[in-house]
Order: sequence, then C-alpha cells, then structure tokens
Amino acid sequence: MALERTLSIIKPDAAERNLVGRILSRFEENGFRIVAMKMLRLNQAQAEGFYAEHQGKEFFAPLVEYMMSAPIVVLVLEKENAIKDYRTLIGTTNPETAAEGTIRKEFAESQRRNSVHGSDSAESAAREIAYFFVESEISPR
Ligand code: PPS
Repeated sequence: MALERTLSIIKPDAAERNLVGRILSRFEENGFRIVAMKMLRLNQAQAEGFYAEHQGKEFFAPLVEYMMSAPIVVLVLEKENAIKDYRTLIGTTNPETAAEGTIRKEFAESQRRNSVHGSDSAESAAREIAYFFVESEISPR
C-alpha cells in the first residue's frame, strides 16, 4: 500500500482544553508519523478559504467564527493509507455517532466543536496540505 500524507487540524476546542499532547500521542500510537506541524491562529480570510466548499451552508459562518476563536495546530501526517486510516481514527463528524475508541468519541463536544479535522480524499489532502505548508517545511522520512 502506498505511503500517503493527510492534513490534520487539532481544533480550538481541543487546544483550549489542553488536549494537544494527548491527541498527538493518539496519532503516533496509531502509526502516523508527524512530518510537519505548526500552531497558528486563523484570521477570517484564512478560515473562510479553508472551508470554502461549505460556503452557503447554514453552519458556515459559525464554523468560521469557531475556527478563529483560539489557536489551532495544523499537521501533516504520513502513513500507508493515511487518509482513510486517519478518518477511521478520528470518527464521524458528530461525536454522538462516532465509534467507541475514536478521538471524537473521546474528546469532541459537538458537531462544530469536534476537536479534530482530517482530509476526506487525496484531492482534499493535497489542497489542504498546500494551504498551510510549503514542501520545504515537510520533513522527509
Ligand atoms: S457536509 O455538509 O456533510 O460536507 O459537512 P460535514 O463534513 O459534516 O462537516 C463539514 C465541517 O463543518 C463542520 N460542521 C458544523 N459546524 C457547525 N455547525 C454544524 N451544525 C456543523 N456541521 C458540520 C464540521 O465540524 C466539519 O468540520 P471539519 O473540520 O471538516 O471536520
């Protein structure tokens, strides 16, 4: 199986509750290698641009507000089958339906305050990684 990269975000609700270290451990314990990482605070243009595909949906404005509300940690994770395996590790968007043992089941507070983001396809991963990182910031194995 091919080595893949996916874009992960530890969201404001998790950073605010001092959960960054515990969530990073979950990534590493599940075989993901952290190949790039930074903490930043999104401005409105950055948050709107990242979630542009959701523009027009009723949850767009509160989602953008929330993503600007506190610092986030953005990461590139590498692993075989990283995109699908990461989505399995974090669980469904809504923590109420997330499987036992997933990060969202354990930490998320709601559909919006759901602790982590993950790319949903190879195309999204490429776009989202390039949104936050230039290639020289991503460590080779
Ligand atoms: S969709 O429409 O099915 O593609 O949306 P979904 O993948 O479920 O969610 C996309 C992101 O929007 C956030 N979200 C919400 N924010 C606020 N309020 C509500 N009701 C809501 N529903 C979804 C959700 O956390 C998703 O964020 P990411 O970072 O993509 O996981």
